[in-house]
Amino acid sequence: MHILGIETSCDETAASVVVDGRRILSNVVASQFDLHAEYGGVVPEIASRAHAERIRPIIDAALAQACVSYADLHAVAVGHRPGLIGSLLVGVAAAKALAWALSIPLVGVDHLQAHLYAAAIGHDSEDQNPIAACYPALGLVVSGGHTAMYHCQTPTQTHRLGGTIDDAVGEAFDKVATILGLPHPGGPAIDALAGEPDADDRAFDFPVSRLDRDSLDFSFSGLKTAVLYAVRGNPRPRELGGGFERDHTGLSHAQKRDVAASFQRAACRAIIIKLERALDDLARGENTRAVRSILVGGGVSANSRLRREITVLGHARNLDVRMPPMALCVDNAAMIASLAHHQLAAHGPDDLTLTAVPTTGA
Ligand code: KG4
Ligand code: ZN
Repeated sequence: MHILGIETSCDETAASVVVDGRRILSNVVASQFDLHAEYGGVVPEIASRAHAERIRPIIDAALAQACVSYADLHAVAVGHRPGLIGSLLVGVAAAKALAWALSIPLVGVDHLQAHLYAAAIGHDSEDQNPIAACYPALGLVVSGGHTAMYHCQTPTQTHRLGGTIDDAVGEAFDKVATILGLPHPGGPAIDALAGEPDADDRAFDFPVSRLDRDSLDFSFSGLKTAVLYAVRGNPRPRELGGGFERDHTGLSHAQKRDVAASFQRAACRAIIIKLERALDDLARGENTRAVRSILVGGGVSANSRLRREITVLGHARNLDVRMPPMALCVDNAAMIASLAHHQLAAHGPDDLTLTAVPTTGA
């Protein structure tokens, strides 16, 4: 079964054709980094306009790369929640139009469930570690817009355990990069700087948020503020003109590198602490083997330190750790088309009243 996937939830216009929920024939992603770079973040109006201009050529490119035509498609799937409403609407309108014109089923897919499923298919092969073998799983989504943990019974049955109460971890990476004068998006730039051979990740003692003793939620705004003060000094009183004592131009390359490494250590530690807590909680539940694996999705799962630390945690807990290859970490439509296969089988198609929803589901 050939499914066309469409993804436009934030600042990537993406389309993909996937066969039987696992064989990716094409995965085309048009990033908008260049359009938002000068603003230091995604501007919703610019994003939705760019999606409207690009969606048709991107779908055509995905079909051409997969060597299929519209007539070969059995269903069309779209990431319809959560995301920027204007951006989501472009993808949803395109998917509905195609489903109606081609008389094929329409499937609305949750973007966060799709990130988790990308982890499950990421390193799958026909004979080893089949996808079903990793469920039930502990899922972690770490991206520019989201940071949340899930108990995943199946690819489509997920229960949210906790999430960020302020900034998403990717947002913190992006803001810290801006504070250090690094280019947008900041995650890869911080990762590279922190990974330089002489980087000292203990040079700054940034706070690791734990929240309440039992909390499975995350918080990254305190860490971001601590980095801001470390780089710029204390805020000046308003009567002295406000602002800060200095900016990143006063820091040497070595100091910036150490700030990046120390920030990355604290951010990763905060995530690992919550994963450990969630695994302990799930193990205390009724099932003796509450989870078989850890699934990690979202753009920040490309982070080299986080990947290393989660791998170590998985070994220590005797759990299979699945993280997508880089192309499936960031926003893409292959994850949408793949999960849609399971959704069609489990719940059937959606009808043409499907709408874009900016908020997260259960
Ligand atoms: O999943 P994604 O493409 O979009 C959202 O759904 O938000 O994630 C984008 C985020 C950005 O914040 C970017 O800085 C971050 O993922 N990111 C990274 C790395 N690569 C991308 N963060 C840390 N380390 C990386 N290597
Ligand atoms: Zn995403």
